[in-house]
Amino acid sequence: MTKTEIIQQTFEYIKQKFTNEFSGHDWNHIYRVWKLAIYLAKNEKVDNFIIEMAALLHDLDDYKLSNENSNNVKKWLDNFNIDDETKNNIIFITDNISYKGAEVENKITSLEGKIVQDADRLDAIGAIGIARAFAYGGNKNREMYNPDIKPIMHKSFYDYKNSKSTTINHFYEKLLLIKDKINTEKARKIAEIRTNIIKDFLQNFLSEWNVDIK
Ligand code: ADP
Ligand code: NI
Repeated sequence: MTKTEIIQQTFEYIKQKFTNEFSGHDWNHIYRVWKLAIYLAKNEKVDNFIIEMAALLHDLDDYKLSNENSNNVKKWLDNFNIDDETKNNIIFITDNISYKGAEVENKITSLEGKIVQDADRLDAIGAIGIARAFAYGGNKNREMYNPDIKPIMHKSFYDYKNSKSTTINHFYEKLLLIKDKINTEKARKIAEIRTNIIKDFLQNFLSEWNVDIK
């Protein structure tokens, strides 16, 4: 099977698997990350097969969706004749792509990984990012906002993943910090635009919340 055929099969598999997922990890999120990653990879010296496969598979083993260490990515890749190094590179990216807390170290080092991680993070900010945060918060029965609960800068992944704070706090605990954690220059420009969209939104949200009409 050619690499193009493997990508096509992976695309169809993920599309059917994530079509009815509504916690902010729906198929359209994965589709956008795949397209963004291809855009960011243009004119870069990278292995495009690794980028496209990691982008398509990046949420398959996500701790928020499946049991940890479920190895779905490895199981899927084992269906094909892919060399071990490439396979391990893809698995390393999908295992380490996720945001683990404001002050938790990022393990991604390959340019392929940095690009896919940037693409995933760009889809968490801007107008789409706002919509996804509230979709996720609603799905988890989180309060939209509560002025008595303050944001926390998580120092460990354990604290971050067990946090039950409000969706507005998620903007301060993660979304506004993304811009400074972006790996590549091309993505940083997009991140700046999308971060401004979030800042405007927060300002308007808080003034409407306080019925602050001038
Ligand atoms: P990551 O890999 O960084 O965890 P994902 O691509 O898995 O990000 O996307 C998770 C989506 O759900 C993002 O849009 C993120 O902002 C949103 N999300 C995650 N945790 C929360 C939360 N506690 N409150 C609101 N939205 C959240
Ligand atoms: Ni994602």
